[in-house]
Amino acid sequence: MRFLLLFTAALRLAAQSPFLPAEDCSHCHAKLGQFGQFPLWSGSMMAHAGKDPFWKAKVNFEGDTTPRARAAIEDKCLRCHAPMQQYPLQAKGERLPMAALNEAGAEGVSCTVCHKIAATGLGKPASFTGGFKINTENEIYGPHAKPFPMPMMHHTENFPKEGKHILDAALCGTCHTVITPTLNAAGETVGSFVEQAPFLEWKASDFAKSGITCQRCHVPTLKDTAGKETDHYIAHMPHGDGRTFPPTSPRKPFGQHTFLGGNAQMLRVMGVETAGKTEEFLRGAVALELDGRVANGRLELAVDVQNRTGHKLPTGFPSRRMWLHVRVIDSNSAVVFESGAWDKTTGEWTGASVRQPHWNRITKPSQVAAYESAMKEPDGSPTVSLMRANGYWKDNRILPLGFVRNEAIAPVGVGGDGDFLAGSDRVHYSVPASGPVKVTVEVLYQSVTPSHVEGLDPAFLQKLAPHRAPVVMHHAERVIR
Ligand code: HEC
Ligand code: HEC
Ligand code: HEC
Ligand code: HEC
Ligand code: HEC
Repeated sequence: MRFLLLFTAALRLAAQSPFLPAEDCSHCHAKLGQFGQFPLWSGSMMAHAGKDPFWKAKVNFEGDTTPRARAAIEDKCLRCHAPMQQYPLQAKGERLPMAALNEAGAEGVSCTVCHKIAATGLGKPASFTGGFKINTENEIYGPHAKPFPMPMMHHTENFPKEGKHILDAALCGTCHTVITPTLNAAGETVGSFVEQAPFLEWKASDFAKSGITCQRCHVPTLKDTAGKETDHYIAHMPHGDGRTFPPTSPRKPFGQHTFLGGNAQMLRVMGVETAGKTEEFLRGAVALELDGRVANGRLELAVDVQNRTGHKLPTGFPSRRMWLHVRVIDSNSAVVFESGAWDKTTGEWTGASVRQPHWNRITKPSQVAAYESAMKEPDGSPTVSLMRANGYWKDNRILPLGFVRNEAIAPVGVGGDGDFLAGSDRVHYSVPASGPVKVTVEVLYQSVTPSHVEGLDPAFLQKLAPHRAPVVMHHAERVIR
């Protein structure tokens, strides 16, 4: 009787939504040493996509900026951040207002979202901007052949099935390609805007050519100490101590559900403990080379900044920026030149305007080498509104290796800089100096650039206040003669 009740309850739920809470999966996908999919995923930004206070504040900001289009904007913003709740409504032709966001939506990009995406249409423009399709066959796709299906059938009414497209970068590209309409003050569409394009950037790079997918860096396979791929059980019996089902054996490759990126700042705001691991991951994103000499009373310094990621650096949301903090110190320990200094409390630059063009040659402290995508409205004026923007007045984010020019994601404002190449940028510093000097270069990363959050919900700004400082990605020091 109890089974029958549960069964009909499950059927009823399935009729409303193809998704299941991650909690349901945690019964058999958590106790796998330190590699359980559930605990790892729980520490990711994607698990927080529908709770993220920055996102919430920004959705309200966009609605306030263009009130005539509020309902359409909110529904759009919920599509990728709260797909568990928005997708079932979307499929019925209904909209989800922000005020109706509930617990299901707050679960963000959960297990059954990724694992139920169908293979059809992946990589095609219709799949972008959250255009993924969820299969209606109650199938849960994974990379392995012949999964032992009984436990999942009994507990979730869903069937594990081999679906190699879970390993396709285009699966990630459905949400990691954000192309939105440009609205005017009346809420009318006047253009379109490529807001985020890690997938398109990746496609234009050497990483796509050599088959190094998003998954390979963001869902890293388990390796032994010698760096060889190693196997692991992928599921265990529900409850209990994590014993495995007798018919199963360890599988290879095993993808770790870490999904690390660059947003240590927001993880700290939300008190999620993966912030430290994210900072570590960020430090692997950049490499630096310094070269210089002092002659005729000037220091001539060249700084090479190299991108080690599979897309632009920074990539993703336009509030990200990376910059160089360069100091020149003379033999009396006096700082004779400094560019890119910042205030610990506000997180903003000191002694330099926030609107920095791209520089190839820096001679003044008011000039900062800052890599960012800065938005503009159709009339050319700078904006931080995602829905009003139609492009960038500057996009000098460092290109990935092998980048082949593509108009939709071409850099902006770097014209004439012959050192801005696929994979790296070289900045030249020329400042008065005599004798040997010590040069220090820090590469700093900020996911929440202060100018992007001005005017957002004060409650969010209060939470952000202790976490405004940038992350130090790299530190180099050299005595130059
Ligand atoms: C097509 C999918 C998609 C849609 C639609 C979408 N977003 Fe996002 N959003 C993302 C992804 C992916 C990221 C993470 C990118 C990154 O980390 O760089 C993100 C990140 C953000 C962030 C940064 C969060 C943080 O913690 O730093 C904000 C704010 C945000 N989105 C606001 C919005 C708003 C407002 C809308 C509606 C106008 C919207 N998003 C619609 C996919 C989407
Ligand atoms: C953002 C998309 C995404 C989300 C969310 C996600 N997965 Fe996965 N999952 C993947 C990818 C990609 C692979 C393939 C990893 C590989 O082999 O490279 C995978 C593989 C797996 C596997 C096979 C074994 C392994 O770890 O490689 C299991 C089991 C699994 N996921 C369960 C889950 C569960 C349970 C959740 C929720 C707690 C979850 N996944 C959330 C993308 C996702
Ligand atoms: C009662 C236990 C149980 C529950 C609950 C459960 N799984 Fe599984 N899962 C398994 C077993 C057993 C396998 C197969 C292991 C094998 O064959 O090596 C598996 C395999 C998988 C695979 C790999 C399929 C493949 O072919 O690569 C994925 C993905 C997966 N589960 C996701 C989920 C998701 C998502 C949920 C929650 C909706 C979930 N599981 C709930 C036990 C469970
Ligand atoms: C259903 C939409 C969706 C899919 C599919 C998806 N993502 Fe995401 N992803 C998001 C959203 C939304 C965010 C941003 C959450 C936020 O910042 O609030 C995000 C954030 C991220 C981040 C940023 C973490 C950080 O610290 O900033 C990484 C990395 C990431 N996703 C990787 C992947 C990979 C790899 C895949 C494919 C296996 C994938 N995503 C598939 C929606 C998606
Ligand atoms: C060669 C390794 C590599 C590949 C391939 C790769 N990434 Fe990344 N990715 C990184 C590193 C390292 C970072 C951290 C630096 C940063 O935030 O830009 C990162 C950051 C991110 C972020 C977070 C940006 C933020 O604002 O916090 C997202 C989202 C992301 N990647 C998505 C993707 C997607 C989608 C793909 C595939 C289309 C992909 N990545 C391919 C290495 C890689």
